[in-house]
Amino acid sequence: MQIAEEILKLKCQKNATILAHNYQIDEIQDIADFTGDSLELARKASEVTAEVIVFCGVHFMAETAAILNPDKTVLIPDAGAGCPMADMINADQLRDLKKQHPEAKVLCYVNSTAEIKAESDCCVTSSNAIAIAASYPAEQEIIFVPDRHLGAYTAEQLKRKFILWPGFCPTHARLMEEQIQGARHRYPDSVVMVHPESPKPVRDAADQVLSTGGMCRFARESDRKMFVVGTEVGILYRLKLENPDKQFVPLHDRAICPNMKKITLEKLLWSLQEMRSVVQVPEPIASRARNSIQTMLAKS
Ligand code: 13P
Ligand code: SF4
Repeated sequence: MQIAEEILKLKCQKNATILAHNYQIDEIQDIADFTGDSLELARKASEVTAEVIVFCGVHFMAETAAILNPDKTVLIPDAGAGCPMADMINADQLRDLKKQHPEAKVLCYVNSTAEIKAESDCCVTSSNAIAIAASYPAEQEIIFVPDRHLGAYTAEQLKRKFILWPGFCPTHARLMEEQIQGARHRYPDSVVMVHPESPKPVRDAADQVLSTGGMCRFARESDRKMFVVGTEVGILYRLKLENPDKQFVPLHDRAICPNMKKITLEKLLWSLQEMRSVVQVPEPIASRARNSIQTMLAKS
């Protein structure tokens, strides 16, 4: 039997649903019940009725699904698929920062560990960070962790100053302004879309700064035919599939997240066969982290 058929059979037998991030490999996107960005996946995870969620993405995403579903089994096909940015701050470091700014509210990018979410007032994603930060009064001091680029972009858009943590995404750090100039030269009629995890010169040189879900929506609704995509290359599969009459090229063809690529069809099959690796977040961290995720879902 083909691997995909076996996965589908086991998925029914185990009453499982497969959630996948937009950066997953093509075969995983094809077999998933739902593919989306971090906010869409967190929302979907909060609505799932199946008993088992197999999360094809990186660890913090599966952890978010587990926090929202304490009574379900959440599996990740490769427990080693982490997000280096999420590991750039630990709870002691955040507690120290909070001591230095006792009046500040803490916004944490969803690309963070459960311990960091537990120490935060509200979670944000790349698609709702501006709206959520705007819901706090202008005079409110804000600590933003761990992505300095999404934090700086959000603060810039609101003409505010945040206390930033120096975290970053190594994949988006590969994007450079010169690549945008080169792309504009090669594709003069293109729209350049970049993710807010990109460095400031890249964001400033782009036409659109969007989450991965925002890029999918923008490409679908736009009359333009040619798009340069400044984010992890896995998203090009979905963009091309959903818009067969439009063209998409990567801003940088080596903008690859090695952790997202750790999830394969074989590992997805083994995960369902052996019911591993189970993602669990111990109480009371889970309940405190749940507060910051649910505050985000209520605000967006
Ligand atoms: P999105 O929420 O925009 O999909 O971003 C997730 C991510 O990890 C980007 O690197
Ligand atoms: Fe983390 Fe960057 Fe990979 Fe997204 S692309 S999961 S931020 S390392």
